[in-house]
Order: sequence, then C-alpha cells, then structure tokens
Amino acid sequence: MFLTDIWYFALLSSSLKCGKMTSKMIAGEPILFLRTKTNQVVALRDICPHRGIPLSCGLLLDTGEVECCYHGWRFNQEGHCTRIPSLTKDQDFDLSRIRVRTYPCLEKSGGIWIFMGDEKNAALVPFSYLPEAIPSKPSLKLRMIFPCSVDHAVVGLMDPAHGPFIHQSWFWRNKNVLHEKQKTFEPTPLGFKMVRHAPSKNGRAYKILGPSPQTEISFMLPGVRLETISALKKTIWGLTTITPITETTSEIHHLMYWKFRGLSIFKPLIYLLAKTFLKQDQRAITLQQKGLAFNPSLLLINDADTQAKWYYKIKKGYKDARDQKIPFVNPLKSCILKWMS
Ligand code: FES
Ligand SMILES: [Fe+2]
Repeated sequence: MFLTDIWYFALLSSSLKCGKMTSKMIAGEPILFLRTKTNQVVALRDICPHRGIPLSCGLLLDTGEVECCYHGWRFNQEGHCTRIPSLTKDQDFDLSRIRVRTYPCLEKSGGIWIFMGDEKNAALVPFSYLPEAIPSKPSLKLRMIFPCSVDHAVVGLMDPAHGPFIHQSWFWRNKNVLHEKQKTFEPTPLGFKMVRHAPSKNGRAYKILGPSPQTEISFMLPGVRLETISALKKTIWGLTTITPITETTSEIHHLMYWKFRGLSIFKPLIYLLAKTFLKQDQRAITLQQKGLAFNPSLLLINDADTQAKWYYKIKKGYKDARDQKIPFVNPLKSCILKWMS
C-alpha cells in the first residue's frame, strides 16, 4: 500500500514552532516531529522503546532531547538514549544500546518532508520535488483530509475527465460543453509531465499573468503534483502533495507560490477558488467510498485514465526496484494523450 524509501510531504513549516513538538501518522507510522531551539527539525518514531508510550506525551528539553513522560528516559536528536533516571550509580548499563528510530527530514519552501524507509537509503534518493526558483515561503496554503487510500486520492486528483462533472460552477464550466484535449507527456525520473502548453479555453484565469501563458504539470511518486504557470517573467507554482496517513485516510496540502505583488490582491479569491475545487474533489472521493466498500473491480480506460495506469505502473516499478535494491528506471515513454473534458 505505501511506498517506502521515498520522500513524503509531512507538514507545513509554520505548524512546527521552535522548541515545540507535534506528532502525526504518516504512512501508518506514528512520527514525532520536533523543532529545536536552534531551528533544527527532527523526526523520531513516536513510541518509547522502553514501554511504548508515545514520546510526544513527554517533554522537549532545551537541549533538544525528548524526555518520556512515563519513566523519564531521554533521547537525543539521533535517537540515542541519554538518560535512564532509575539506574543507580553502580549499575553499569550501556545506554547507547537503546535507540528510538529516526527519520531523515528536510525543510524547503515552507514544507517539512520526511524520508520514510531505511535511513541508509536516503542518500540514494535525492530530494527532487521543488525547482530551484521556487520562493522560500508559500503565498497560499490549504490542507484537507480525504477519507480514502493514497491511490484513490492520487488518481482522483489527476483524473482529467471529472472536471466538467465534479467542478461545475456558473463561473467556470458546465458539463454540456466538452472540449477535445490533446496533450504531450514525457517521463521524468520519478513520474511524468504534461509538457509546457497554452492552457485550454477554460483556463482564462491564467491570463492575469500576462499574454500567452504556458503551463506545465508534473506528477512525481509517491504523490506530488507540481503545476508551473508562466507568462513573460511571472511564474506561479502550484504544489499539491498527497500523504497517506493510514490505509484509508490521506492528507492533501495545496501550496501556491508567486513572487510578484500584483497577484496578492487576488489572494482571497484564489484561496476561495482553490478551496472550492478541493472540496468538490473531497466530496466525490467521499461518495466513492460508498461503492468501494463492496470492493468492486474497477475500470481504467484510455486515454482519460492512462495517467492513472501510469501511476500504478511506476508505483509498482519503484517498489520492485527497492525490493531488489536496484535503481528505479522509469518504464514510461513520451506520448500524446487525447480526451474530452
Ligand atoms: S515508557 Fe518511556 S521511559 Fe518508560
Ligand atoms: Fe478535481
């Protein structure tokens, strides 16, 4: 169900203040995130190796160590045990034998990312989700929970054919007007991208950037979508990340970045639009669960569902490669997909 040895978006930087801890599930594992007073972000398994109480119930000390609330054992940022208060002076006990699992994490452009998998492999899987030019802080942030598996969240969000039905609105579009779309796709190291093209007719809103806007949309494993819209020298980046929480719950973050002032006047409107869209997707996914509860076999058709087929194919390919301890080689080929939407 969950890919391992890969980077996941974990949480917004702004939700973890200096000297604070927070815990959350990621891909079925309880993780404790802490930010030391020196602004270092650390991720530990949120289970005390002594008797299993969550470490997040304890304290974060000024030293950056976590003290368990049950018997006061302490753990440093590398996960090593540094103190067991119940030991007497003459009890010779090797504290270094005790360790809580740590996870590599990094912080970039307002988000904290975590490497779920074998720590030793993190160096083999370089972090490559954000372009160099992306601003250091998002201009807009949205978070939503979808009551579904990561697969249905990914497939639902990149599905190109549901737009006219799920995202109907008086100002955007209705289902009686379908246009033929034809887009060129290319493989990328961890996924595929819809190469730069002029947005379709119902993408008129992009014109606020200037004349002849262009957009590029890429999807990367395990569940990262990056849309780059640019016109003249202005660029907007839309980052959507899908993080599995459990097998039946996924967390969606939608972050938008831009550098130019002019757009900030429209921020409340952009926020409202983005939230409306995401809520429409959330509603469809929630309704879908009613049918999925009966475990039906499902259909994926060409070309509207080809991206979903690619997702399953590269996910399996990535998993197989990690199982065999060989580098992942993307099996996809460049091609053109056509659909009505
Ligand atoms: S359970 Fe954590 S110190 Fe005992
Ligand atoms: Fe959608």
